[in-house]
Amino acid sequence: MPKWLNDAVFYEIYPQSFNDTNSDGIGDFNGIIEKLDYIKDLGCNALWINPCYDSPFKDAGYDVRDYKKVADRYGTNEDLYRLFDEAHKRGIHVLLDLVPGHTSEEHAWFLESKKAEKNEYSDRYVWTNGWIEGIAGHPYIGGEADRNGCYMLNFFKCQPALNYGFLKRTADWQKAPDDPACIATREAMKDVMRFWLDHGCDGFRVDMADSLVKEDDENKSATGAIWKNIREMLDKDYPEAAIISEWSNPHQALKSGFHADFYLDHRGNGYNTLIRDYETEGGDHSFLKKDGNGDIIRFLNDYLPKYDGTKDYGFISFITCNHDTPRPRRTLDYHELKIAYGLFLTLPGVPFIYYGDEIGMRYLDIPTKEGGYTRTGSRTPMQWDNSANKGFSSAPADKLYLPVDPSLDAPTVEDQAKDPDSLLNTVKALTKLRHEYRDLQADSSFEVVYAEKEEFPFVFKRGDLVVAVNPSDKKASASLSKKYQKVYEIGQVEIHEASLKMQPQSFAVLKYKLLN
Ligand code: GLC
Ligand code: CA
Repeated sequence: MPKWLNDAVFYEIYPQSFNDTNSDGIGDFNGIIEKLDYIKDLGCNALWINPCYDSPFKDAGYDVRDYKKVADRYGTNEDLYRLFDEAHKRGIHVLLDLVPGHTSEEHAWFLESKKAEKNEYSDRYVWTNGWIEGIAGHPYIGGEADRNGCYMLNFFKCQPALNYGFLKRTADWQKAPDDPACIATREAMKDVMRFWLDHGCDGFRVDMADSLVKEDDENKSATGAIWKNIREMLDKDYPEAAIISEWSNPHQALKSGFHADFYLDHRGNGYNTLIRDYETEGGDHSFLKKDGNGDIIRFLNDYLPKYDGTKDYGFISFITCNHDTPRPRRTLDYHELKIAYGLFLTLPGVPFIYYGDEIGMRYLDIPTKEGGYTRTGSRTPMQWDNSANKGFSSAPADKLYLPVDPSLDAPTVEDQAKDPDSLLNTVKALTKLRHEYRDLQADSSFEVVYAEKEEFPFVFKRGDLVVAVNPSDKKASASLSKKYQKVYEIGQVEIHEASLKMQPQSFAVLKYKLLN
């Protein structure tokens, strides 16, 4: 386990929308470099940058055309190497986004693979034996290539699946995962990783990490074997590099060698019940909503088996949001967000803050851009100050990658920095606390102290500290086993002897009170 991960607080940057320094309306590497001090000051000491490679951008860059070359619109490879350097000078680690499951249909490998003549890349993708032979149970395309075959897709039409083989095979065009062609795909991906690690990147967030071997078993063991092999390379040659998976199944991901796995927003899962449970019938049942409709037990029933079963292998990553998920401000107000972030930044594992969530940027209802569809509303320009385009860019407003939040009360870093009580300053206080107390960091123990069906508060221990969360608009109380004192609070929390009284919408971190 890379040591730095234990105290890491990540900041996810969607590079298109962060900071534009050459006035072309789209964010760039220089723009990220310019804001590294801001990120550091926020208390984030690690970055994840969404794919910034050469791409036709039919899926915002998740359709990679060249794994080793950055997209011109962000700058040059040298600019990105400089970003690594500048980040390292400030103690910030940088993860790039690795997209191992598919490429763009314009990638050089695919252009070779689709040729009728057999060549080195013929088996780099998944092809059937005939133009009319489809792939049952998987999306595929026919009629687009000279080659007499159909090819499999991994996501959009523009994203042909790379060939890591099939575990259960039912046709002769399906290769075994240990076929030399499939091993070659794995080795090519390792070569891509080495390229960026050798240039100073600190690891990868791995896109659709569970999608490699097709017709895998229910434990995804063949896909897991590939990641174990990759992890061996990291342990041997890059022991400080981290890999964090988009898998959302820590039992599978962490046992396959990932250092951390995202707890993603899937309807009805534990994370969803905390913050985005508004798709189930009967209103919003999120635990973190102040109307108190939620139930912490629904979270714990899902989370505890995941945590208990994987804590010896790696970390679970809580997120405020990501580029695929509606921003939490869509349904939570500033005060609700403070308590939500209080919870996410004190739970075990490696937390991620999505750019702009630290000021409560809105989810906007806007038309799709670069394959974003309903995700586009979470990808709008960062709101820095009250100058033109909220300080994101000095290009004319109609030339921006996406529109800036037009509301009069659109939050900005500038305004919130001045207000000691703002969401931004609360996030800073919380990250500071996490860095200060070893017990709040990724690997410290977690134990539930008070959690009752449809009741508040939720109280848990991290090492010797106690964290108490009352998101509801009602008073709540609990008893503790010994005397504690407050080290941090949001709202109002009182402790009398060993009893804890929490005002509506409050949060506290407590430590054992030593008698003096
Ligand atoms: C992941 C990414 C998403 C992308 C998809 C295909 O889910 O987070 O943005 O569209 O994979 O690469
Ligand atoms: Ca730019």
